[in-house]
Amino acid sequence: MEQLPTLETPRLVLRQLELRDVPALFGVFSNRRVTRYTSHPPFAAMQDAEELLTRIDCGRLGDVFYEWGIADQKTDVVVGTVTLFHWERAHHRADLGYAVAADLWNRGFGTEAVGRAIEYAFQELDLHRLEADVDPRNAGSLRLLEKLGFVREGFRPHTYLVDGEWQDSVLLGLVRPDVR
Ligand SMILES: CC(C)(COP(=O)(O)OP(=O)(O)OC[C@H]1O[C@@H](n2cnc3c(N)ncnc32)[C@H](O)[C@@H]1OP(=O)(O)O)[C@@H](O)C(=O)NCCC(=O)NCCS
Repeated sequence: MEQLPTLETPRLVLRQLELRDVPALFGVFSNRRVTRYTSHPPFAAMQDAEELLTRIDCGRLGDVFYEWGIADQKTDVVVGTVTLFHWERAHHRADLGYAVAADLWNRGFGTEAVGRAIEYAFQELDLHRLEADVDPRNAGSLRLLEKLGFVREGFRPHTYLVDGEWQDSVLLGLVRPDVR
């Protein structure tokens, strides 16, 4: 897709990320609390955020994955991202990923942004099923998904090796609600 569509929610805008967002992206992903239960280490340098932006652009242009910046509607400052990846077009299925700046957690921003992306995925991208894979200790992420209708479907021990530690994952899925 040449340009990601801009999606609005009451307080947020999901929009394409640009070079000017690199410092904000670095701010989000350099925080160890944000990366703790993901398979990536925290960003150590601004260059890590620039590289993320390049991967996001390539993913979108190659129609392989879509990653929106989550921006504050009033300030347009990026406070997180939401991603559709591992997109299997033949099966209308994709994985969902997301992150919000740690100092803004528990204000409903994650649920608001991810909920809008899910709506877009089912209504406009013809996706039929979304999946997520969450560390069982990541209570906020599990809660967010279950609030949005995701159902626990399985458990995979030792899915990721992060900093020398094996991390388990809970598998969750959501079938497009109107056809389930
Ligand atoms: C997961 C994440 C996006 C949630 O963002 P957020 O903006 O705080 O989400 P919300 O405020 O919409 O909702 C969080 C919900 O989890 C709950 N929650 C948060 N921490 C919790 C905890 N430790 N135990 C139980 N519930 C918790 C909140 O109370 C809230 O539920 P409620 O609305 O019923 O009160 C954010 O924590 C994050 O970026 N984490 C790091 C990245 C990450 O783990 N991504 C997902 C990888 S699978």
